[in-house]
Amino acid sequence: MLPGSRGAMTDSNSRDPRGVLIVLEGLDGAGTTTQAHALHDRLTVRGRAAHVTREPSDGPVGRLIREMLVGGHAIPGQKIDQATFGLLFAADRLDHLQREVEPELARGAVVISDRWYHSSLAYQGTGAERAWIRDLNQRARRPDLTLLLRVHPEIAAKRRVAAGRAQELFEDLAMQRRVAAGYEEVVAELTAAGERIEVLDGEQPLDAVAAAIDAAVAPLL
Ligand SMILES: Nc1ncnc2c1ncn2[C@@H]1O[C@H](COP(=O)(O)OP(=O)(O)OP(=O)(O)O)[C@@H](O)[C@H]1O
Ligand SMILES: [Mg+2]
Repeated sequence: MLPGSRGAMTDSNSRDPRGVLIVLEGLDGAGTTTQAHALHDRLTVRGRAAHVTREPSDGPVGRLIREMLVGGHAIPGQKIDQATFGLLFAADRLDHLQREVEPELARGAVVISDRWYHSSLAYQGTGAERAWIRDLNQRARRPDLTLLLRVHPEIAAKRRVAAGRAQELFEDLAMQRRVAAGYEEVVAELTAAGERIEVLDGEQPLDAVAAAIDAAVAPLL
């Protein structure tokens, strides 16, 4: 939940008390996809119903966003406005919630989402735009726990190169530095608004990050 929308979010959370929504956040290359799937697999082995998902989602709006992020639908000679992405991500989030996340929570699953509205706030919400992005996301469910995998932008960039990944929009180093600073502000703002967020050292080896995630998640299970 975002500041100013507390009542609505509490009501929605109380409808399905068994399900748990855990969000992993971080820069491109922070390790969110790796760790989201690894957490899902550890929970499943232990017999806990779990579901791993991502944003942009695999629904229709999410697919459109993915196409745009790799340069599809480009406007010749122009960049697509960040506000357009802000709107699309907010629409995808509600669709994702209704189509995929809420049904899984209703069956009691631990839903692990690779990104949520914190990404919108950090990526699209630079400067004065953040209040508007916050408004757009007022109906998005508040996670039970969000884990920010903190890595330096340079380390994240090295990992993306090592993984042989083509550069998407938003992935240049200057932008990633702004996003990293944005995440720190967003964590402070949302924590002050009562949201449960833990910052983990994403530069540790994979197993150490996984252990820190398990320790953070354990009280919810
Ligand atoms: N703790 C770690 N130590 C070393 N390498 C890591 C670590 N975590 C992830 N990696 C590696 O970094 C690369 C990026 O990881 P991953 O795809 O999980 O990042 P991501 O945060 O999902 O990135 P994106 O946002 O671009 O999808 C992968 O090759 C992965 O194996
Ligand atoms: Mg990823």
